[in-house]
Amino acid sequence: MRKANRKLESERNRAAKFKRRTKSDAKQVKNEEKITNECESTEKEEEGACSVNHGQTNRRRRFQLPFWLRKPPFIRSSCRSFAGGAEQPSHMPLRSLRRANLWHLLHLPSQPQPLQPSVTHQPFQPRVPGNKRIFSEFNNSNSSANPTQLRWKPMDAPDSPTDFIDGLSTVCGSGSSFMRHGYAIHMYAANKSMENCAFCNADGDFLIVPQQGRLLITTECGRLKVSPGEIAILPQGFRFSVNLLDSPSRGYVAEIFGTHFQLPDLGPIGANGLAAPRDFLVPTAWFENKSYPGYTVVQKFGGELFAAVQDFSPFNVVAWHGNYCPYKYDLSKFCPYNTVLFDHSDPSINTVLTAPTDKPGVALLDFVIFPPRWLVAEHTFRPPYYHRNCMSEFMGLIHGGYEAKADGFLPGGASLHNCMTPHGPDTKSYEATIDRGNDIGPSKITDTMAFMFESSLIPRISQWALESPFLDQDYYQCWIGLRSHFTETETCHENQP
Ligand SMILES: [Fe+2]
Repeated sequence: MRKANRKLESERNRAAKFKRRTKSDAKQVKNEEKITNECESTEKEEEGACSVNHGQTNRRRRFQLPFWLRKPPFIRSSCRSFAGGAEQPSHMPLRSLRRANLWHLLHLPSQPQPLQPSVTHQPFQPRVPGNKRIFSEFNNSNSSANPTQLRWKPMDAPDSPTDFIDGLSTVCGSGSSFMRHGYAIHMYAANKSMENCAFCNADGDFLIVPQQGRLLITTECGRLKVSPGEIAILPQGFRFSVNLLDSPSRGYVAEIFGTHFQLPDLGPIGANGLAAPRDFLVPTAWFENKSYPGYTVVQKFGGELFAAVQDFSPFNVVAWHGNYCPYKYDLSKFCPYNTVLFDHSDPSINTVLTAPTDKPGVALLDFVIFPPRWLVAEHTFRPPYYHRNCMSEFMGLIHGGYEAKADGFLPGGASLHNCMTPHGPDTKSYEATIDRGNDIGPSKITDTMAFMFESSLIPRISQWALESPFLDQDYYQCWIGLRSHFTETETCHENQP
């Protein structure tokens, strides 16, 4: 009898334990479902936001980049289910060093539409109409050498419906996309989204700096919402489409041939400061897998536009992984450095991204910003000093003012100071600085975001830019009236040998 009671007690305990475990498992499953649902709803609310899905629970977390600077190449997957084929564009010669290899793998769906790799299109034809204002081979036929200080006022919105492709205009540049060495600087002004078409740049990488109007850029890797104050990098070969969330829209584009942007080395700064890898964001995989009769892919190839028609959206990639992809960066995340006692730091101290050449420390193109920051230097002329530079400087202004130009350099405008061309603060800024004297305390530059594309290659200027109605013909006058404030004293003579 006792034995039977013990057996019954044991069975009751086992049953209770099983019941507790079942309840616990059910609770855990419920929690996971809740997380998944919350993530999905957040994702829907933030279409175009940058993040990556990880794991089967579809949890979202911010992607942290060292990117291609991390060795071995960083790999990240977007884990939506897929069962189709794959396509791999290559971005480095196949026998490149492993540490320099850039790649990504695109996974294509099998349902509901059959597999559609990008090759399934009609032959490329010259696009009609083309865009004669853009080119990627700088020579006597399309551009001029010009050492004069140049400045452009902000462009007006287009008069007729104009999308990102048709709104691009080349301002200056150097080298050749055919030779895989050089760069081009463009500006864009658009008032409508790209419709039933995608753009593909076979010539180089785009660094887009919106100045007015938010962009929703759909790429094969997902979507990026990019606002003024942020930048987007669209590497060579990716197909993308630009939707305007605000119209009209305008901004700047740097294009580099034969290399890619990377974070600058920090040298004595050490581990922290400038642009942090964690703040670079890549898109979550996003796709539309449907029939799209008459869809056009416009390919920029050698600076010319070609069009190929297909019957599906190129944004049919359900997952991707690799270390080569579009990304964006919020310039307000930048941690600026500056002098803390006396003298003036070179602008290279605030390099966000650099495109290197084969010569160590010599950039094909640096992207440098002049963000809000404290100025504290004592007995120092705080605005940029007058100088001539072996590098060439193209500047733009996203919002606010620029410390060295009291007038004339406006948001949406631009300036070019070519190799060894003298430049510096205008007369008004110079005199205002002198008036404030040596004993001014700390002051903060606020409401500003200027930037510079600086290159070791000397740019030629396009005919469009030189003939533009927005070219400021009176730029040189901003330095008229500069006078010396030097006072000769007996002390000066006493110090002479
Ligand atoms: Fe300069």
